[in-house]
Amino acid sequence: MRPQSGISITAFAALVSAKSLSDVCILSNVKSALPSNGTLNGINLIPSSSTAAIVYNATVGGMVGASAPTGGATYNYCNVTLTYTHPGKDDVVVVKYALPDPSDFKTRFYVAGGGGYSLSSDATGGLPYGAVGGASSAGYDALNGVSYDDVVLYGNGSLNWDATYMFAYQALGEMTKLGKYFTKEFYSLAGTSKLYTYYEGCSDGGREGMSQIQRYGDEYDGVIIGAPAFRFAQQQVNHVFPATVEKTLGYYPPPCELSKIVNATIKACDPLDGRTDGVISRSDLCKLHFDMSSVIGQAYYCAAETSSSLGFGFSGGAMGAGSQTSNKPVQNGTVTAEGVAVAQAIIDGLHNSKGERAYLSWQIGSEFSDAATTYNNETKKWELDIPSTGGEFVTKFVELVDLDNLSSLDGVTYDTLVQWMTTALYRFLDSLQTTLPDLSTFQSSGGKLIHYHGESDPSVPTASSVHYWQSVRSIMYPTLDDQQAQAQLADWYQFYLVPGAAHCNTNTLQPGPYPETNMETMIHWVENGVKPSRLNATVSSGEYEGEIQMLCQWPTRPLWHNNSTFTCVNDAKSIESWTYEFPAFKIPVY
Ligand SMILES: *[C@@H]1O[C@H](CO)[C@@H](O)[C@H](O)[C@H]1NC(C)=O
Ligand SMILES: *[C@@H]1O[C@H](CO)[C@@H](O)[C@H](O)[C@H]1NC(C)=O
Ligand SMILES: *[C@@H]1O[C@H](CO)[C@@H](O)[C@H](O)[C@H]1NC(C)=O
Ligand SMILES: *[C@@H]1O[C@H](CO)[C@@H](O)[C@H](O)[C@H]1NC(C)=O
Ligand SMILES: *[C@@H]1O[C@H](CO)[C@@H](O)[C@H](O)[C@H]1NC(C)=O
Ligand SMILES: *[C@@H]1O[C@H](CO)[C@@H](O)[C@H](O)[C@H]1NC(C)=O
Ligand SMILES: *[C@@H]1O[C@H](CO)[C@@H](O)[C@H](O)[C@H]1NC(C)=O
Ligand SMILES: *[C@@H]1O[C@H](CO)[C@@H](O)[C@H](O)[C@H]1NC(C)=O
Ligand SMILES: *[C@@H]1O[C@H](CO)[C@@H](O)[C@H](O)[C@H]1NC(C)=O
Ligand SMILES: *[C@@H]1O[C@H](CO)[C@@H](O)[C@H](O)[C@H]1NC(C)=O
Ligand SMILES: *[C@@H]1O[C@H](CO)[C@@H](O)[C@H](O)[C@H]1NC(C)=O
Repeated sequence: MRPQSGISITAFAALVSAKSLSDVCILSNVKSALPSNGTLNGINLIPSSSTAAIVYNATVGGMVGASAPTGGATYNYCNVTLTYTHPGKDDVVVVKYALPDPSDFKTRFYVAGGGGYSLSSDATGGLPYGAVGGASSAGYDALNGVSYDDVVLYGNGSLNWDATYMFAYQALGEMTKLGKYFTKEFYSLAGTSKLYTYYEGCSDGGREGMSQIQRYGDEYDGVIIGAPAFRFAQQQVNHVFPATVEKTLGYYPPPCELSKIVNATIKACDPLDGRTDGVISRSDLCKLHFDMSSVIGQAYYCAAETSSSLGFGFSGGAMGAGSQTSNKPVQNGTVTAEGVAVAQAIIDGLHNSKGERAYLSWQIGSEFSDAATTYNNETKKWELDIPSTGGEFVTKFVELVDLDNLSSLDGVTYDTLVQWMTTALYRFLDSLQTTLPDLSTFQSSGGKLIHYHGESDPSVPTASSVHYWQSVRSIMYPTLDDQQAQAQLADWYQFYLVPGAAHCNTNTLQPGPYPETNMETMIHWVENGVKPSRLNATVSSGEYEGEIQMLCQWPTRPLWHNNSTFTCVNDAKSIESWTYEFPAFKIPVY
């Protein structure tokens, strides 16, 4: 609806805000809000396929690694689906939007990330913020739970590039562009009015968010990214690295032995940050000062159990990929030199046979999730277990054969892993790799980024986020010294390590803080100009449960003075321990 001559703007505004959900959530309003062909380049709507219906008393679906502060609240919203095609292609993309009641709408648009190989199929995550949310089928039925790895191959040797680009960045970019246009028309906002646009996601949802600021930088105002599973070629093949270490060294540690090494590491390194609270807040000091071989000879014991492990390192059960159940016998022994050698080689990271570094690794003190062995009750031995996260990536994305896992590591060496990474790097450089370090479009259009990563993440190495921050710093501010570059970055890109935290979650082994109010912080920054300098995080278990820790902004690091106070210090040696080059590759790795 447009203002009629004779109605003042004020009267019109009153008219709009007086509209109810049932006034706007009707097919005729939806259809008249669609862009006509040519308006959004590359997006042609099929108006006849639109749907609209009110959903009452809905609870809100969150995204991996974030929890909306709903307090059990429910919402009424307009559930709209739109269908579009790419001009000249007979493809069909369905997008779904959840539009709040006009009286709840706060001129915001919100995009939630998915996880694993799935885009989010839930559009409701923005409702607690008065925001319209959206989700996309990506052209392969992602809204109905089809996962990208299910469709990445048409058949052996035949890559589905359409699905690849859609999953990599295009589906979300188009959903956001179309959604923002549609939202303004749906609520009769002026085309020029500001629609604050947010993104929030963790793990692959973090990668997806990075894809948006790299490719659609001027569409987003505030982006919150946790533990991004980007640098895809290295990240995914690296899931096979621990198993390759075990095979190369010829030792398959009982899980209890590795668990003991981790626990002993946490115990030894916890105090190095100045407070003994069960949390390694300074894994860099642990790396610099702790000698893992000191654990050799310590006794370990784990009772027999039936346990489930989850793919992608999730402890909350958010993602099912690669999950498995196994029976473990009682494990009673002492930590061996071989066990420590395996652990140390994993922490040292992948190098080729010339000794050149190919990738970074998990921080010391993280669980060795990808190193889990499996018990063979016939031979009574612990044996190789290839995590299907990495195994499937190698079969489908590198070898292009339609198998869900590698069947063995026969003939596989560290050089093989580097070769797999190289193949995937070149193949997916402009799609899944998602490490373009030039964020100028996002920055110059006023975008704000909060990027965080658990310091004991056992799935996506924490240092992989540090490396990207360093790449952005050197590509965007090549002539500035560190202090100047950091000051410039802090105006729009803030990076935080979360002491002790695991993958997109708290850590059962370290009762540390976790940031839960990122959206509030971001809205305050974007809409009120209040720039944070620390990140609000709360301890949710253990002796210090309930304690609020304002996390240190990278590159400063926490140092506790007593049991109640820490400061954020600059420590060159610490930063150096997080800094890597990857000479095993002939091209830059950002
Ligand atoms: C817009 O494009 C779509 C798909 O190409 C087509 O089905 C539709 O008829 C077009 N609409 C108009 C008004 O031409
Ligand atoms: C929604 O919840 C309210 C409050 O519990 C209730 O009165 C109302 O009938 C519900 N509406 C529908 C459509 O279920
Ligand atoms: C939203 O609408 C679509 C299309 O009609 C439908 O498939 C879906 O179930 C609806 N969602 C809810 C929560 O009602
Ligand atoms: C390591 O610590 C965790 C948490 O306290 C405990 O559940 C586990 O059994 C310990 N592992 C070993 C080998 O003692
Ligand atoms: C573990 O093994 C040692 C040495 O064999 C034995 O002394 C101890 O009792 C065992 N512990 C448990 C809990 O079975
Ligand atoms: C060995 O494992 C198999 C498969 O998990 C199981 O069916 C069988 O009962 C196990 N045997 C023993 C002796 O535990
Ligand atoms: C694809 O390749 C794998 C590995 O060589 C093979 O096991 C499978 O049968 C092939 N599938 C088809 C449909 O040819
Ligand atoms: C493939 O992955 C599954 C799930 O992680 C695992 O159970 C299985 O052992 C793997 N297969 C091989 C041959 O390692
Ligand atoms: C930090 O978060 C807590 C809730 O976890 C909240 O009570 C507090 O006001 C927040 N502080 C800041 C500075 O945002
Ligand atoms: C802890 O240390 C800080 C910084 O040195 C100091 O300001 C504070 O008073 C100390 N608190 C306690 C309880 O000792
Ligand atoms: C800090 O807490 C630890 C463990 O709770 C306690 O042993 C120690 O005395 C405390 N230190 C200070 C300075 O209060």
